Amino acid sequence: MSIAVFASGSGSNFQTLVEESRRQQWPLPIRLLVCDKPGAKVLERAEQLGVPAVSVSPKEFVDKAAFEAFLLSELSKHQIEWIVLAGYMRLIGSTLLEAYPWRIVNIHPSLLPAFPGKNAIEQAVEYGVKVSGVTVHFVDAGMDTGPIIAQVPVQLDEQDNVESFAAKIHQAEHRLYPEVVYRLITGAVTAPGRIG
Ligand code: GAR
Repeated sequence: MSIAVFASGSGSNFQTLVEESRRQQWPLPIRLLVCDKPGAKVLERAEQLGVPAVSVSPKEFVDKAAFEAFLLSELSKHQIEWIVLAGYMRLIGSTLLEAYPWRIVNIHPSLLPAFPGKNAIEQAVEYGVKVSGVTVHFVDAGMDTGPIIAQVPVQLDEQDNVESFAAKIHQAEHRLYPEVVYRLITGAVTAPGRIG
């Protein structure tokens, strides 16, 4: 049994998750990267870290169900038990949701339900909030919805701009996400409605 990370972009969270999982010798290894953006930087990171990657664009399939059916077959080849979204900028469809009930988690760079969707960091800076943060939640069919597992606040200081605030957010993500994923895979956090 193992973990897959889904990512679309730079992959700093993916890299931190892999490094922490190895340093802490997690009982389940991260055995697969799924990337829906051929050419994304996260693919280079996977190669450097020696994590097998599936790079596939949904455009190659007739619809989302066909795309996810292909992903499912890749996931079962690697005996994937958990799906960890780390900057995967696409809604998860019913095929994956049904195959992995409450076994898909996501990280989002705001204190949800504030600023869902894309550019959450920019949205927070533009709005002028004094505090934003990071949320880890179970994934359902919505956009950055689903039961919240953990949140940490990040202060937006007067001198912060998008770049400096993004750096603070990423630092918080890199601390929080490995900790929460570890708690999930070891059963210290359980899915909604599930006992034990
Ligand atoms: C992270 O900040 C993550 O929270 C965000 O994408 C970034 C990926 O960074 N995800 C979302 O906005 C999901 N709605 P990374 O590629 O460096 O890990």
